[in-house]
Amino acid sequence: MSVQSIDSFAGRLLGWYDRAARDLPWRIPPSRETVPDPYRVWMAEIMLQQTTVAAVGGYFMRFVRRWPTVADLAAADDADVMAAWAGLGYYARARNLLACARTVVAGHGGRFPDSEEGLRALPGVGDYTAAAVAAIAFGRPSVVVDANIERVIARHRLIETALPAAKREIRAALAPLVPQGRPGDFAQGLMDLGATICTPRAPACGICPVRTDCRARGRADIEKLPVKPPKKAKPQRYGVAWWIERDDAIWLVRRPGKGMLGGMRALPGGEWTDEAPPESGLVHVDHGFTHFDLRLTLIARESELAAGEGEWWPLSALDAAGLPTLYRKLTDRMRERIA
Ligand code: ADE
Repeated sequence: MSVQSIDSFAGRLLGWYDRAARDLPWRIPPSRETVPDPYRVWMAEIMLQQTTVAAVGGYFMRFVRRWPTVADLAAADDADVMAAWAGLGYYARARNLLACARTVVAGHGGRFPDSEEGLRALPGVGDYTAAAVAAIAFGRPSVVVDANIERVIARHRLIETALPAAKREIRAALAPLVPQGRPGDFAQGLMDLGATICTPRAPACGICPVRTDCRARGRADIEKLPVKPPKKAKPQRYGVAWWIERDDAIWLVRRPGKGMLGGMRALPGGEWTDEAPPESGLVHVDHGFTHFDLRLTLIARESELAAGEGEWWPLSALDAAGLPTLYRKLTDRMRERIA
């Protein structure tokens, strides 16, 4: 059991978490003394990188139902895992997920390493994920900092340095607050506080469990914390995708293993460039990636262009193709047109 005083930062936060923790599919509720399964904790943390809790829920349940253990996942076909990930984005995570499961099985006898350092050596596991899994699955008092936690600490300690430089100060301010007992609940309590009370807009300071010593409380500019770096304008890029139809099927290819949407099933087409294509096409979609915006134009092509590696995919079964959102938007628009 925890030893911190109930008045300490951790004591107040954990007391609140015991009452208010969100019920999330990968979580062991604080009232239960069960030990979490590191495989499920790791899977959830990978999925939650850059992705909201609401978007992850269904994917997490489908993955752990289909591949209940790390050995099941390690033995899965790459194509099945990539298709199951379709729509979640940041597809390098799915490739690393498989690489990591296979490393855990082949190199660690099917058990996840139980230290931050050991976890960090696994494919796709960075500083954040190593710290989160070490705390949540193995009870290590690691310093876990995600965007929600960053906001809570920047406000509570009134850190006015702009991100990303503020990260060092935030870590340094958080480190002495991490309790030896229940570090996983502590980290998840901070995440929940950031998601439900210390929200980006209109934080509910009146009901915050750590309000009494919050240095930003009552400030008109509390929403400005943490201070964001200036926004960079995103470049606009363009691409074409080919709609090659024959006998109620379309030609699909697999994108190369590395790079954007690597390893995912896709419509064929050319390289993405900085120049708008000359043809106006059948339909187009605009899609925002992290570092650029893409306008992808769909152009009808003759079936002779269905060459090289690919497959004819029945239009009626397109939902099962595992297309990433970008291509999914295009095919949905096209199906509306031909319906
Ligand atoms: N975001 C990232 N990890 C999370 C977790 N374990 N619980 C809630 N939100 C999260």
